[in-house]
Amino acid sequence: MARVLILFTHPALQKSRVHARLLARLPQSDAVTLHDLYEAYPDFLIDVGHEQSLLEAHDVVVFQHPFYWYSTPPLLKQWMDLVLEHGWAYGSKGTALHGKWLTSVVTAGGGGDAYRTGGYNRFTVRDFLKPIEQTAALCGMRYAPPWVVFGTHRLRPEDLDRVAIEYARLIEWLAADGLETLEPSTDVDLLETP
Ligand SMILES: Cc1cc2nc3c(=O)[nH]c(=O)nc-3n(C[C@H](O)[C@H](O)[C@H](O)COP(=O)(O)O)c2cc1C
Repeated sequence: MARVLILFTHPALQKSRVHARLLARLPQSDAVTLHDLYEAYPDFLIDVGHEQSLLEAHDVVVFQHPFYWYSTPPLLKQWMDLVLEHGWAYGSKGTALHGKWLTSVVTAGGGGDAYRTGGYNRFTVRDFLKPIEQTAALCGMRYAPPWVVFGTHRLRPEDLDRVAIEYARLIEWLAADGLETLEPSTDVDLLETP
Protein backbone atom coordinates (compact mmCIF):
# COMPACT_ATOMS: atom_id res chain seq x y z
CA MET A 1 0.00 0.00 0.00
CA ALA A 2 1.04 3.59 -0.60
CA ARG A 3 0.11 6.25 1.91
CA VAL A 4 -1.74 9.00 0.04
CA LEU A 5 -1.87 12.61 1.24
CA ILE A 6 -4.52 14.76 -0.45
CA LEU A 7 -3.70 18.44 -0.05
CA PHE A 8 -7.08 19.97 -0.82
CA THR A 9 -7.39 23.69 -1.57
CA HIS A 10 -10.75 25.27 -2.38
CA PRO A 11 -11.41 28.83 -1.19
CA ALA A 12 -15.20 28.43 -1.39
CA LEU A 13 -16.07 24.83 -0.61
CA GLN A 14 -19.54 25.94 0.56
CA LYS A 15 -20.33 26.91 -3.07
CA SER A 16 -18.65 23.89 -4.66
CA ARG A 17 -20.59 21.47 -6.87
CA VAL A 18 -17.76 19.26 -8.02
CA HIS A 19 -15.20 19.01 -5.22
CA ALA A 20 -17.93 18.68 -2.58
CA ARG A 21 -19.16 15.63 -4.52
CA LEU A 22 -15.64 14.22 -4.95
CA LEU A 23 -14.88 14.52 -1.24
CA ALA A 24 -18.17 12.84 -0.32
CA ARG A 25 -16.99 9.77 -2.27
CA LEU A 26 -13.45 9.72 -0.88
CA PRO A 27 -12.62 6.13 0.12
CA GLN A 28 -12.41 5.69 3.90
CA SER A 29 -8.99 4.12 4.35
CA ASP A 30 -6.10 4.36 6.79
CA ALA A 31 -3.88 4.77 3.73
CA VAL A 32 -5.60 8.00 2.64
CA THR A 33 -5.30 11.34 4.47
CA LEU A 34 -7.44 14.29 3.44
CA HIS A 35 -5.94 17.60 4.51
CA ASP A 36 -8.13 20.64 3.79
CA LEU A 37 -5.70 23.55 3.74
CA TYR A 38 -8.32 26.35 3.72
CA GLU A 39 -9.98 24.76 6.75
CA ALA A 40 -6.65 24.38 8.56
CA TYR A 41 -5.25 27.78 7.60
CA PRO A 42 -8.02 30.30 6.81
CA ASP A 43 -5.56 33.06 7.76
CA PHE A 44 -2.75 31.61 5.59
CA LEU A 45 -0.57 31.06 8.71
CA ILE A 46 0.81 27.68 7.74
CA ASP A 47 2.38 25.39 10.35
CA VAL A 48 5.48 24.43 8.38
CA GLY A 49 6.70 21.75 10.79
CA HIS A 50 3.32 20.02 10.79
CA GLU A 51 3.12 20.08 6.99
CA GLN A 52 6.61 18.66 6.64
CA SER A 53 5.80 15.85 9.11
CA LEU A 54 2.68 15.01 7.11
CA LEU A 55 4.69 14.86 3.89
CA GLU A 56 7.31 12.64 5.49
CA ALA A 57 4.59 10.20 6.57
CA HIS A 58 3.16 9.71 3.05
CA ASP A 59 4.34 8.28 -0.28
CA VAL A 60 1.98 9.96 -2.75
CA VAL A 61 1.05 13.64 -2.58
CA VAL A 62 -2.06 14.85 -4.44
CA PHE A 63 -2.70 18.53 -5.04
CA GLN A 64 -6.50 18.67 -5.36
CA HIS A 65 -8.09 21.96 -6.38
CA PRO A 66 -10.27 23.85 -8.86
CA PHE A 67 -8.36 25.45 -11.75
CA TYR A 68 -8.21 29.18 -10.99
CA TRP A 69 -6.73 31.38 -13.69
CA TYR A 70 -4.92 28.38 -15.16
CA SER A 71 -3.28 27.69 -11.85
CA THR A 72 -3.89 26.75 -8.22
CA PRO A 73 -5.81 28.71 -5.57
CA PRO A 74 -3.42 31.05 -3.72
CA LEU A 75 -3.13 29.05 -0.49
CA LEU A 76 -1.46 26.16 -2.30
CA LYS A 77 1.16 28.54 -3.68
CA GLN A 78 1.70 29.93 -0.17
CA TRP A 79 2.01 26.35 1.10
CA MET A 80 4.70 25.64 -1.51
CA ASP A 81 6.56 28.87 -0.72
CA LEU A 82 6.73 28.09 3.00
CA VAL A 83 6.82 24.30 3.31
CA LEU A 84 9.29 23.33 0.58
CA GLU A 85 12.31 24.69 2.42
CA HIS A 86 15.90 24.67 1.22
CA GLY A 87 17.86 22.00 3.09
CA TRP A 88 14.67 19.98 3.61
CA ALA A 89 12.93 19.72 0.23
CA TYR A 90 15.78 20.68 -2.07
CA GLY A 91 19.46 21.58 -2.04
CA SER A 92 22.35 19.20 -1.31
CA LYS A 93 20.92 18.24 2.10
CA GLY A 94 17.26 18.53 1.13
CA THR A 95 16.25 14.95 0.52
CA ALA A 96 13.02 14.59 2.55
CA LEU A 97 10.80 14.16 -0.52
CA HIS A 98 13.08 12.02 -2.65
CA GLY A 99 11.24 9.20 -4.42
CA LYS A 100 7.75 10.29 -3.36
CA TRP A 101 5.11 10.85 -6.05
CA LEU A 102 3.35 14.10 -6.83
CA THR A 103 0.21 14.44 -8.93
CA SER A 104 -2.78 16.77 -9.24
CA VAL A 105 -6.56 16.34 -9.23
CA VAL A 106 -7.94 19.41 -10.98
CA THR A 107 -11.43 20.55 -12.00
CA ALA A 108 -11.77 23.03 -14.86
CA GLY A 109 -14.70 25.05 -16.16
CA GLY A 110 -13.29 24.78 -19.67
CA GLY A 111 -14.00 21.71 -21.79
CA GLY A 112 -11.36 19.13 -22.67
CA ASP A 113 -11.27 20.34 -26.25
CA ALA A 114 -10.28 23.85 -25.13
CA TYR A 115 -7.14 22.56 -23.44
CA ARG A 116 -4.98 21.65 -26.40
CA THR A 117 -2.71 23.27 -28.98
CA GLY A 118 -5.00 25.24 -31.28
CA GLY A 119 -7.85 25.13 -28.76
CA TYR A 120 -9.49 28.03 -26.91
CA ASN A 121 -7.02 27.86 -24.02
CA ARG A 122 -4.05 26.98 -26.32
CA PHE A 123 -2.25 24.71 -23.85
CA THR A 124 -2.96 21.49 -22.00
CA VAL A 125 -3.62 21.44 -18.26
CA ARG A 126 -0.31 19.62 -17.87
CA ASP A 127 1.38 22.52 -19.71
CA PHE A 128 -0.18 25.03 -17.32
CA LEU A 129 1.03 22.97 -14.34
CA LYS A 130 4.69 22.92 -15.46
CA PRO A 131 5.84 24.92 -12.39
CA ILE A 132 4.51 22.09 -10.21
CA GLU A 133 6.10 19.46 -12.44
CA GLN A 134 9.48 21.18 -12.16
CA THR A 135 9.03 21.72 -8.41
CA ALA A 136 8.61 17.96 -8.10
CA ALA A 137 11.77 17.40 -10.14
CA LEU A 138 13.76 19.89 -8.05
CA CYS A 139 12.64 18.06 -4.91
CA GLY A 140 13.58 14.63 -6.32
CA MET A 141 9.93 13.57 -6.55
CA ARG A 142 8.36 11.48 -9.27
CA TYR A 143 5.66 13.32 -11.18
CA ALA A 144 2.48 11.85 -12.61
CA PRO A 145 0.30 13.82 -15.05
CA PRO A 146 -2.85 15.48 -13.68
CA TRP A 147 -6.27 13.82 -13.44
CA VAL A 148 -8.75 16.41 -14.67
CA VAL A 149 -12.52 16.92 -14.63
CA PHE A 150 -13.36 19.23 -17.56
CA GLY A 151 -16.44 21.30 -18.33
CA THR A 152 -17.62 21.54 -14.75
CA HIS A 153 -20.36 24.08 -15.47
CA ARG A 154 -22.11 21.65 -17.80
CA LEU A 155 -22.01 18.61 -15.52
CA ARG A 156 -25.47 17.28 -14.71
CA PRO A 157 -26.18 15.48 -11.41
CA GLU A 158 -25.64 12.09 -13.07
CA ASP A 159 -22.31 13.30 -14.51
CA LEU A 160 -21.24 14.42 -11.04
CA ASP A 161 -22.02 10.95 -9.71
CA ARG A 162 -19.95 9.39 -12.49
CA VAL A 163 -16.87 11.59 -11.92
CA ALA A 164 -17.10 11.05 -8.16
CA ILE A 165 -17.04 7.29 -8.69
CA GLU A 166 -14.07 7.64 -11.07
CA TYR A 167 -12.29 9.83 -8.51
CA ALA A 168 -12.80 7.23 -5.78
CA ARG A 169 -11.36 4.60 -8.13
CA LEU A 170 -8.36 6.83 -8.81
CA ILE A 171 -7.63 7.34 -5.10
CA GLU A 172 -7.98 3.60 -4.42
CA TRP A 173 -5.59 2.92 -7.29
CA LEU A 174 -3.06 5.44 -5.91
CA ALA A 175 -3.28 3.76 -2.48
CA ALA A 176 -2.77 0.36 -4.11
CA ASP A 177 0.58 1.56 -5.51
CA GLY A 178 -0.93 2.04 -8.97
CA LEU A 179 1.59 4.73 -9.89
CA GLU A 180 4.36 2.15 -9.65
CA THR A 181 2.90 0.58 -12.80
CA LEU A 182 3.39 3.81 -14.78
CA GLU A 183 6.24 3.74 -17.25
CA PRO A 184 9.06 6.06 -16.12
CA SER A 185 8.81 7.82 -19.47
CA THR A 186 5.05 8.52 -19.11
CA ASP A 187 4.57 11.72 -21.02
CA VAL A 188 0.83 11.80 -21.59
CA ASP A 189 -1.15 14.97 -20.87
CA LEU A 190 -3.63 13.38 -18.49
CA LEU A 191 -3.82 10.54 -16.02
CA GLU A 192 -6.68 8.29 -17.10
CA THR A 193 -9.07 6.80 -14.56
CA PRO A 194 -7.71 3.29 -13.92
C1 LIG B 1 -11.57 32.81 -9.69
C2 LIG B 1 -11.90 31.70 -10.65
C3 LIG B 1 -11.00 31.42 -11.67
C4 LIG B 1 -11.25 30.39 -12.55
N1 LIG B 1 -10.34 30.13 -13.54
C5 LIG B 1 -10.55 29.10 -14.39
C6 LIG B 1 -9.58 28.79 -15.39
O1 LIG B 1 -8.53 29.42 -15.52
N2 LIG B 1 -9.84 27.76 -16.23
C7 LIG B 1 -10.99 27.01 -16.13
O2 LIG B 1 -11.15 26.07 -16.93
N3 LIG B 1 -11.93 27.28 -15.17
C8 LIG B 1 -11.72 28.30 -14.30
N4 LIG B 1 -12.65 28.57 -13.31
C9 LIG B 1 -13.79 27.65 -13.14
C10 LIG B 1 -13.52 26.68 -11.98
O3 LIG B 1 -12.35 25.92 -12.22
C11 LIG B 1 -14.69 25.75 -11.77
O4 LIG B 1 -15.81 26.54 -11.43
C12 LIG B 1 -14.43 24.75 -10.64
O5 LIG B 1 -13.40 23.87 -11.02
C13 LIG B 1 -15.68 23.94 -10.33
O6 LIG B 1 -15.46 23.17 -9.16
P1 LIG B 1 -16.34 23.40 -7.83
O7 LIG B 1 -17.78 23.19 -8.21
O8 LIG B 1 -15.84 22.41 -6.85
O9 LIG B 1 -16.09 24.82 -7.38
C14 LIG B 1 -12.43 29.61 -12.42
C15 LIG B 1 -13.35 29.91 -11.40
C16 LIG B 1 -13.08 30.94 -10.53
C17 LIG B 1 -14.06 31.25 -9.42
